[in-house]
Amino acid sequence: MTDKTKQKWEINDEAYLEKGGLTMEFYPLIEKNALKESFALVKENMQTLYENSVLSWDEEEKWKEMSMDTLHYVCLYTIEHHKLIGFMSFEETIEADLPCLYLYELQITKDMRRKGCGSWLMKQLTRIAEQRRIPYLFLTVFGKNEQALQFYHRFHFSPHATSPQPKKFRSGKVVHPDYYIMYSRV
Ligand SMILES: CC(C)(COP(=O)(O)OP(=O)(O)OC[C@H]1O[C@@H](n2cnc3c(N)ncnc32)[C@H](O)[C@@H]1OP(=O)(O)O)[C@@H](O)C(=O)NCCC(=O)NCCS
Repeated sequence: MTDKTKQKWEINDEAYLEKGGLTMEFYPLIEKNALKESFALVKENMQTLYENSVLSWDEEEKWKEMSMDTLHYVCLYTIEHHKLIGFMSFEETIEADLPCLYLYELQITKDMRRKGCGSWLMKQLTRIAEQRRIPYLFLTVFGKNEQALQFYHRFHFSPHATSPQPKKFRSGKVVHPDYYIMYSRV
């Protein structure tokens, strides 16, 4: 992490990572190699979910989106081999008239899930929002992505009024929409 980065976005709490043999890099503007690795992880984790939604998996579009120069990345690597095991990308923006950090990606490799890495990244996102006095977090999640829905529920995200809503049948059955726009107050 450069000094310039530290001035703008302070990220602490690295002790948790070191205990797990991990280190983090903060990219105000993503570098080509880190972007390539992050893209490969998104493809591995998300391609099937995209293909099973109204959206299709369009590599060119996804690459373009992930390359946007408004996005900031926090990447987690193993200390030993500098292997990417997870990352998040986010943008400072306005959504539904609310100033927010919009989480574009939160991705952990399969073998590193349920060890607290996603929570660690989410805590850093909250901390950045607090430091910058940004009152809301927003994100989009597929209705079929049960594990992510459970995860975000744990962090008190709920569907925004502008989001497609679930259908609730009299039998009690709930059918999720294709995707939700979720938000939470920092
Ligand atoms: C969603 C994701 C980021 C969660 O990251 P993670 O590092 O595994 O999450 P954590 O270990 O911090 O889990 C925190 C809590 O979230 C909930 N949670 C996480 N994964 C869950 C799962 N598969 N099923 C149910 N609850 C889950 C649990 O409450 C968990 O706490 P616990 O392990 O003490 O029970 C990760 O599963 C992932 O990368 N999935 C694939 C990519 C993806 O779908 N990203 C989201 C796109 S919107």
